[in-house]
Amino acid sequence: MPNHSDQTAFTSAATRFAVAILAAGKGTRLKSKHPKVLHEIGGRPLLGHVIRAASAVVEPKHIFCIIGHEAGRVRTAIEAYGTQFVEQTEQRGTGHAMMQCRQALAGYDHVIVLSGDVPLIQPETIARVRDFHLAQNAAMTILTAEPRDPFGYGRILRRVRNGHITDEVESIVEQKQLTPEQASIGEVNSGIYAFDVKKLFQRIDLLNTDNPHGEFYLTDIAAILQRDGESVMAVRAKSPEEVLGVNTRIELALLDSYLRDQKTRELMTSGVTIFRPETCVIDSDVTVGTDTVIEPFVQLLGSTSIGSDCRIRSGTVMTNCRLGDNVTVKHGCIMEDAEVGNLAVLGPYSHLRPASQIGEGAHVGNFVETKKTRLGKGSKANHLTYLGDAEIGEGVNIGAGTITCNYDGINKFKTIIDDGVFIGSDTTLVAPVRIGKGAYVGASSCITQDLPDDSLGLTRPPLVIKENWASAKREKLKSKKQKS
Ligand code: UD1
Ligand code: CA
Repeated sequence: MPNHSDQTAFTSAATRFAVAILAAGKGTRLKSKHPKVLHEIGGRPLLGHVIRAASAVVEPKHIFCIIGHEAGRVRTAIEAYGTQFVEQTEQRGTGHAMMQCRQALAGYDHVIVLSGDVPLIQPETIARVRDFHLAQNAAMTILTAEPRDPFGYGRILRRVRNGHITDEVESIVEQKQLTPEQASIGEVNSGIYAFDVKKLFQRIDLLNTDNPHGEFYLTDIAAILQRDGESVMAVRAKSPEEVLGVNTRIELALLDSYLRDQKTRELMTSGVTIFRPETCVIDSDVTVGTDTVIEPFVQLLGSTSIGSDCRIRSGTVMTNCRLGDNVTVKHGCIMEDAEVGNLAVLGPYSHLRPASQIGEGAHVGNFVETKKTRLGKGSKANHLTYLGDAEIGEGVNIGAGTITCNYDGINKFKTIIDDGVFIGSDTTLVAPVRIGKGAYVGASSCITQDLPDDSLGLTRPPLVIKENWASAKREKLKSKKQKS
């Protein structure tokens, strides 16, 4: 959640703080053709999570995303957050990434460095690193943690003075360079730092590629600063989960489920009932009102918002939908970019496609598909129907098996059904067509012209009744069978 008090504290301070987010890497270990930082957890790209957290501490115009691998795609996906971009054309390591920021950061006193692949970082922690860094007058402050499994992370070698372990850091040692004794160190580098900008860039060119990956490691700057007598400090994260990085698909899934677990807990705490929450998939941006009940195996995705006192039954999946209060969504509905008014009843097995607007108290039943369609207040389409490009008024009854024929193979046309209309079952409405207020359409009609208000529209061949025809037919068929 944005923490505006932090932002005020920051902007009122005389020091100029920027945030740089390392996001240029390829993410080799994900084995993906997509850039790592665009992989999603909680329905949002990794980099999006990091920017969200940073934006609560500094304004987006002071956030610099360092992009490189598939820079164009990353930029397009992230542009809406309003951050700045710095390009690292060749990815030669985290130190090399920061070298590209020299110009962009020239006007700042301090920079907080975040990693595009450490997505659970919280605004409070970023603010804490900043405040600790300033209070200690440090050249570099490193956020550290002790995760359950430190393997793969750089380890923190703290300075020991008079037999006491201090807050100062001697150096950061990467996994592959650990000596056997160092391998038991549990405190890891989170990849999140604060730097005094001037002191960083005075020495950044001293980094070299003398390591197993042949890369410029930003982590090596700790020992360089320390040797020059500058203070390099460590500050521990409150929870180790917050600084977990995503390097593999397994870590991606772990962090995704961590985030979703947090989300359902947050919703339950705020008054939403969720049965078997571990089976539900609820994206980070979703909101749900109090006393709404969510059954097992429901997915609420994207920017979906649900009002109070609703019931969402098992198997329903909704993306970017807006539901009012007291809405019932029965089993197995698939809904996207749809808006649903108070007291409406949907499902089971309704399919609401984009731009569906279901009015207050309206009913949409099983195997009904809607697209770009407004169904007015109290109207009903309960069975086996397709409503596309339709504007349907209030109190309308759409009979079972009604189809709007909205497409001629090239163009789409509109069907307008005014208030109080009754459409009989198995009707086809060939658009463009308008059914006037209060009109009736007889069952099984094919309506190709507008109907005036209060009229009856009916296309139906005359009914033929032949008495005893069926028994005579059966006799004839039987005698044929005996002969053969
Ligand atoms: C890094 C740290 C390690 C720390 C870990 C925490 C280094 C050398 N090591 O290791 O100490 O414990 O993070 O998660 O920094 N990136 C670029 N340009 C590059 C290379 C990487 O922008 O040329 C970006 C990546 O996109 C990524 C971030 O920097 O977002 C970290 O890079 P990554 O290769 O994942 O570093 P780790 O091996 O995890
Ligand atoms: Ca990483």
